[in-house]
Parts: sequence; structure tokens; C-alpha cells
Amino acid sequence: MFAVHLLAFYFAKLKEDQIKKVDRFLYHMRLSDDTLLDIMTRFQAEMEKGLGKDTNPTACVKMLPTFVRAIPDGSEKGEFLALDLGGSKFRVLTVQVSEDGKRNVHMESQFYPTPKEIIHGSGSELFDYVADCAADFMKTRNIEHKKLPLGLTFSFPCKQSKLEEGILLSWTKKFKVRGVQDTNVVSSLTKALKRHKDIDVDVLALVNDTVATMMTCAYDDPRCEVGVIIGTGTNACYMEDMSNIDMVEGDEGRMCINTEWGAFGEDGSLEDIRTEFDREIDLGSINPGKQLFEKMISGLYMGELVRLILLKMTKAGLLFRGEKSSALYTKGKIETRHVAAMEKYKEGLQNTREILMELGLEPSEEDCLAVQHVCTIVSFRSANLCAAALAAILTRLQENKKLTRLRTTVGMDGTLYKIHPQYPKRLHKVVRKLVPNCDVRFLLSESGSAKGAAMVTAVAARVQAQRKLIDEVLSLFQLTPEHLVNVKNKMRAEMEYGLKKETQPLATVKMLPTYVCAMPDGTEKGNYLALDLGGTNFRVLLVKIRSGRRSVRMYNKIFAIPLEIMQGMGEELFDHIVHCIADFLDYMGIKGASRLPLGFTFSFPCKQTGLDKGTLVEWTKGFKATDCEGEDVVDMLREAIKRRNEFELDIVAVVNDTVGTMMTCGYEDPDCEIGLIAGTGSNMCYMEEMKNIELVEGNEGKMCINTEWGGFGDNGCLDEIRTQYDTEVDEGSLNPGKQRYEKMTSGMYLGEIVRQILIDLTKHGLLFRGQISERLRTRGIFETKFLSQIESDGLALLQVRRILQQLGLDSTCEDSIVVKEVCGAVSRRAAQLCGAGLAAIVEKRREDRNLEHLKITVGVDGTLYKLHPHFSRILRETVKELAPQCDVTFMLSEDGSGKGAALITAVAKRLHLKKDN
Ligand code: BG6
Ligand code: BG6
Ligand code: GLC
Ligand code: GLC
Repeated sequence: MFAVHLLAFYFAKLKEDQIKKVDRFLYHMRLSDDTLLDIMTRFQAEMEKGLGKDTNPTACVKMLPTFVRAIPDGSEKGEFLALDLGGSKFRVLTVQVSEDGKRNVHMESQFYPTPKEIIHGSGSELFDYVADCAADFMKTRNIEHKKLPLGLTFSFPCKQSKLEEGILLSWTKKFKVRGVQDTNVVSSLTKALKRHKDIDVDVLALVNDTVATMMTCAYDDPRCEVGVIIGTGTNACYMEDMSNIDMVEGDEGRMCINTEWGAFGEDGSLEDIRTEFDREIDLGSINPGKQLFEKMISGLYMGELVRLILLKMTKAGLLFRGEKSSALYTKGKIETRHVAAMEKYKEGLQNTREILMELGLEPSEEDCLAVQHVCTIVSFRSANLCAAALAAILTRLQENKKLTRLRTTVGMDGTLYKIHPQYPKRLHKVVRKLVPNCDVRFLLSESGSAKGAAMVTAVAARVQAQRKLIDEVLSLFQLTPEHLVNVKNKMRAEMEYGLKKETQPLATVKMLPTYVCAMPDGTEKGNYLALDLGGTNFRVLLVKIRSGRRSVRMYNKIFAIPLEIMQGMGEELFDHIVHCIADFLDYMGIKGASRLPLGFTFSFPCKQTGLDKGTLVEWTKGFKATDCEGEDVVDMLREAIKRRNEFELDIVAVVNDTVGTMMTCGYEDPDCEIGLIAGTGSNMCYMEEMKNIELVEGNEGKMCINTEWGGFGDNGCLDEIRTQYDTEVDEGSLNPGKQRYEKMTSGMYLGEIVRQILIDLTKHGLLFRGQISERLRTRGIFETKFLSQIESDGLALLQVRRILQQLGLDSTCEDSIVVKEVCGAVSRRAAQLCGAGLAAIVEKRREDRNLEHLKITVGVDGTLYKLHPHFSRILRETVKELAPQCDVTFMLSEDGSGKGAALITAVAKRLHLKKDN
């Protein structure tokens, strides 16, 4: 009994002595808690530096955005091909993700060797080899006919600007393949795969092994938001808030960051803890000066670190009685698996003896104890360093979430972590000590990176399918040049119908005579009242025209017309108008003035039999007051004035806004013979030869025709290009079946078309998380001004999002991109259609006048034309393309239609006076 105790005592003493000896020798490798806390703080600063736009270029920890924005949500499905390159083994796999929501994953895999010639050869050889292996794998499994999306786990630092891209920043670990650095790995692989004509795979995602590990673990534990590899190399990724990632646009949600922590220390920041052994390892590596943190930690270097230490201790006579073996001098003779074996709990000492003997050494009991302790110090330091960096990440997560206690899961993988008997326990313990406020669960990724890569690919495949659907919808709005020529020709034909007595009743473009025959000649003068009803604003104006100067002075006031009046009783509408006139006269102090002449801009289709006679054909846009259609609006206004009995007015003219606009512009540019409105509604007027106007007697001179082209297409002639969304907008409007061209081209409806598309996309789960909000159901939310803002150039997505939020639409950045695209497609089509219509009229004018070339000015007004960032340009481009023989100048009407109405009134007064004299 005593002998046993004595032996135990002797052995304990022996061990203690050896431990002390090694501890003394490797003093520098033992890191105190304070040092670890210090390293943790340094790594926190490194992360910050890597994330900042300005500081990133000089940061050694690159903090690479991965474009993985979410962990799996269980809805992933499909069959995928996965390649897993860069760890200790190269694998090709198929991953089948269940479709029944049970989180079932079935994998089949095969390892392929990565011979030295390949990992130290040329890029094309590497990718050809990888593609060959993939093809071989598919053929041996008889799945070469399947079109499979491929996820590539590529465990090297890559810069990504999207998921399916990876620019290799540098090789690390054992790889050093020529001509790959700074190139896109995905396109190289794609090219190599394309050579195999018999297989059809599409590389949808490139992921780092850390990311894949996080995703693998997150599939089973949704709390997983960190992935750590401690294998051949070491690295970690985690989910960072987008608002902290300067390098990627957008603030919404999170994105996984591949830290590439292996590079920590490259700027010298770890020199105080690096030892002579670390320096020696680095110098002998294929990438000296690089991956300094990795070289103190990971499996590729650990055995070698132990060897260098043993060699030095032996040389110092501290081991093996100073007797070296040639194996001890040979690089790579001690591997990480040896270190792991030597540290095994029970058989460790025996393993140590055997391993040392295999190295040609003759170890004593003391030697074995000492060597075992060397291994412990080296592997413990590795775990400590990993723990410090991981603790920094966890702290960051906790701070991002502003939590006093963080509960989270870390996905783990890598041979060192998996095969080393003590490593996981030590790592966990130190992490918990360094971040006492985190409840960390460490989850080992049992199935490797491929599963996670498949998850990422599944999400990418879903996004791709969604993109396809979105593109399909948007393509409905793309018009070919043939479409546009067709529209132009049909518009032209409808105009001709409208001018002919016989066909006019059935024509959709009504071509209404306006009885405006003369342009102002500059001699007009006097004070005129004008009303301007039917656009965005209702105005009353006083226009003072001074003769000879071609300049006017205007005073105006904007009045609101409540919806219940716009769509109420006709009499009330006119009473309201007169009430506003009264208010304006009071405001101007001219109520007593005798019978001021008045021009009435009334922006609706009117059948006129004289300048001051206009029967409303039908309401358009947002008006629907009763008992007006078929009535003379001038009479209605006169009666309302009479009813009020406060003042008298001389109503001289009723003028469409297009005509008012043409006049406003014509006052300055006599070439202006066309008036165009692209606003709430859409319409155009132009000067026509009297001889072509069959509805009005006389063949001399010209008269302005209000085309009312908004009704174009009401006979179905545009059905080929109308979409389901146009139909929906039409059906929900005040005048179903009417004004179909207007409904595709004007401000009042474009937003509605957009809204219908958004509803449809949302229904298909492609927007707003599939939730159709009350706001989205609300008619009219997308006013022209919002469309214009959303489409503004250079507007950051964030701003688009803000506009959408203002509209009550809670959108993500991805949503905002889609919304902007939808707006763009809809407004572009509008501008093109409007351009095709305008091309029809300028061509007609050119042909009517038998001219080779026509120079003509178009006076334009309307909120869409004025506010939208692209509408006017696309309109002009289209006209140019469709009417190349016409030189069309667009002149923006600065003063609105009211001025034109006053001018028409003034001209009428002048002509009237002439007649009277
Ligand atoms: C594995 C992955 O599970 O972990 C690899 O599938 C990855 O691709 C690896 O690189 C990391 O470990 P090691 O030890 O093989 O480098
Ligand atoms: C304005 C006119 O300038 O243009 C309006 O004065 C007209 O009366 C308008 O209807 C067209 O634009 P919107 O966008 O207001 O309908
Ligand atoms: C190296 C690579 C890194 C990888 C890690 C683990 O550090 O640079 O991308 O994640 O090894 O395999
Ligand atoms: C509607 C009206 C038309 C007007 C146009 C622009 O199309 O019917 O008269 O010119 O809107 O305001």
C-alpha cells in the first residue's frame, strides 16, 4: 500500500517537475485572462475597422459581406449540387432538402483527392479538375440529365458583391494556384462546367465554410448566428446589422459577415504575443507575413509548432537527453492528429511514447510527460485565442441587439475542434469566462458545409425564381418598336375618323372643334378673368394683358374642390365655382368691376358650337357630378352666377386645357401649333386646316381641334398591349371602359397601375413579405409626385424606402428595388405611348402640308411632364424615332392654361370689336 502511495507521489512529483520545466520554457505561450481580455478588445477594434468604408482598405481583418441575409426559415426545398473545396478534403455532394416542411435533408457525397499538382498548379487546371469531379459524380449517380443549382463552398477569402460571385483576395492554408487571385472564382468554375456539355448546372452561390457551417447549424437551431471553423484554417462569420455594414447599400436587416479572422495580427498588432516559434512557422509557410492569427491556432500549423518547440527544447538539453532524431528535424513530421492523440485523457501518455518513438526518439517517462504538456500549452493557447476573438464577436452581437443577456448559438466545425479531445471543452469554458453575460450554445455541424451551402443555394434559387416572375410582369410593359409604330398608325387612323362627318360618331378620338381660329397678334389688351378647372388645382385668375409687349400680369388663387362636390350634384359644383370666384373678386377688391370678360378653362371633352358654347360630352378623370353631361357648361356657369346674384361676368370662351396651353405657348412662339397635356389626364390639341374639318362649315383658315385622344383604344384597338393591370385600373375607375389610352399614359392612373402590380406581386409572395396591407389596398396612394420621387436618379434605396414608408408601406430594401423597377416600367410605357400619339399628329401635319421636313413647336403642360424625372426625355426620344422627318420643339408652359384662356378671350374681344366697328 505504502509502495503504491510512494509511486503515486513519485509520479506526481515527476509530472510536476516536467510541467514546471515546460511552463518555464513556454512561459510566453501561456496567456493570462487579462491578456485574453486585451486581445478581445483589440479584435473588437479590428472588426470595427474592417466594417468601416474608409478604414477597410487598411484593415487586415477584412470583414467580408457575404450577401447571405437570413438564416434558413425551413421553407427551403429542392435538390442541389454542392462542391466543398478548401478544407482538408474536397467533396462533391447532392443535397436534397425536404419539401414537406419537416426539415429533412438527404445527402450523398464523394470525396475526391486534391493532389499537390492541382493545389499548386494553374487556375484552369484546378477548375477543370473540379468540374471533372462534379461531372463524374453526376454520371456515376445517373443524375447528369438533371438541371441542378450548385452551391460552392469555397473556404478562402473572397470579395463578393452578390451571392454568385467571389473574387479571390488571396490563397490561404495549403493552396497556391496560379492566376486565380483577384479573379472571379464563380465565373471560372462556370466556364469549366460549361465544357461538360452533358451536364447542366448553374452556380447560384459561393459561400465560405464558416457561412456554410452557420447555415447548417441554423437549419436545426434558429438561434445560430455565428459560424466558427477550427480546422486546417480558422475563421468565423456572424450576422451583422446592415446599418453597420458600410460596404453594402441598405440598412435593412442583417447580413452575414465573413470576418477572415485568420489575418488578425498582419499589421503587427499581435507581436507582443507571437513567439519565435510562430515567426519560424510563418517564415516556412507559403504565405509569409499572412494569416498570422491563423498560424497560432489552426490545424495546419499546430503539429509543426509542437515540433519546433520540441526541437528547441532538445537542443537545449531539456528533452531526450539532448539527442535529436532526423525526423525531429523534418518539417511536417508532427501533425495535429498527433497532438490530439498525445493529449487523449487516458491513453495520451502511451500515444505520446509511440509517436515519439516513431519519430526515432527514445523518450523517457519524463520526456513523455513534458511533450504531452508542450502539446497542451500549444493547443490551449489556440483555444484561448479563438475564445478571445469569438468573445469579441459575441459582445458585438450583444451590443447590436442592445441586450443585457445574449442567448445565442455558435455553429462549429473543423478537424481540430472535432478530433482534439480537450479542445471544445476548453474553448467553451474560456468563452463563457470572457463573456459572462452570454448564454452560448456550441453546436457541432455534423454534416459539414455542404448542407449549409445548399440552404444558401435554395434561398438563391427561390430569389432567382422570384426574379423570373417579376421580370415576366415587367416585360408586359415593354413595347417593341413595332408596337409603337402600330400605336402611331392606329392613332392616325382614329384621328382621321374623328374629322370625318360619317365616321365621327363611332370614332374614339373625337376631334372636337374648339372655335379657336386665331392666335394672339400682340395687340390684345385689358383685364380678364380666367377659371382653370379640371387639373390638379382649381384656380381663379385675373390676367392683365398689356398691348404690344406680349407680356401679361397674373394674379391667382387656388381653391380646393372637395371630392363630394366633384362627384356630387352638378348645380352644387357650379355654385361652388361661383363661390370661389366671389371669394377671389373680394380678395382682389374688384367685385364691383363691371362685367369682366371671362375665359373658362374646362379640361373635359366639350362639344362646341361656338367659342362660348360647350356641351360636356362626358366627365373624365376624377369628376362625376350629376346632371352635367349633355349640358352646356357655359350656361350652367351663367345660371350659377345668376343664382348667386352678386356680380356679373361676360363669359366669352370655354377652353380645353390643351388649347389654353397651346395659346399660352403660342403667345411667345408663333410656331406653336400643338398643345399637349401630360398631367392628371392626357390630351392633345392642334391647329387643323378648316377644309379637313367636316363638322364645321367653311374651308378657309385653320381651327384648333381638341383631339380628346384619351379615348383612343376604347374600341379595343389597344387590347394587344393592355395588361391585366390596365384592366383592373379601368374597372376600378369612375368611367370603366372609357379613356383607355389616358389610363395608360396619365398621372392619375400610372400610380394605380403600379399599385395593381404591387398587389399582384405581393399576392405571389414577391413583395412586402406577402402581406397586402390596408394602405396598399387604398386607391390613389401613388400620386404622380411620389412616382416622380421614387424614380429620381441617384436616390439611394434608403430614400426610396422612406418614401414608401411615408406612404405607409413597410418595405425592405429588396422591396424598394422592385417598387422602383415597377414604377420605371409603367412610366416608361406611358411616355412611349404618349410619344407615339404625338408622332402621329406631327406626321399628319407634315403630310397635310406636303412638307419633306416639318418644324413645329409643342406647348406642354401637366404634372407628369413637369415632375417626372424621365417622362419628358422618353417622350421626346420616342417622337424623334417615330417621326424622324419632324423637328419638334417642346416648350413648357410656365403659366398654365388660365393665361391661354384669357388670351383666347382677349382675341375674341378684339375680333368682336373689329366686327362691331
Ligand atoms: C468541413 C467542411 O466540415 O469543415 C469543409 O465541409 C471545411 O469544407 C471544414 O473547410 C473545415 O475543416 P477542415 O479541418 O477540413 O479544414
Ligand atoms: C395646368 C393647367 O397648367 O396644366 C391645368 O393650368 C391643366 O388646368 C394642367 O389641367 C394639366 O396638368 P395637371 O397635372 O394639373 O392635370
Ligand atoms: C482560412 C480561409 C478562410 C476559411 C478558413 C477555414 O482562414 O482564409 O476563408 O474560412 O481557412 O477553412
Ligand atoms: C382629360 C380630359 C381632357 C383634358 C385632359 C388633360 O383627358 O378629357 O379634356 O384635356 O384630361 O387635362
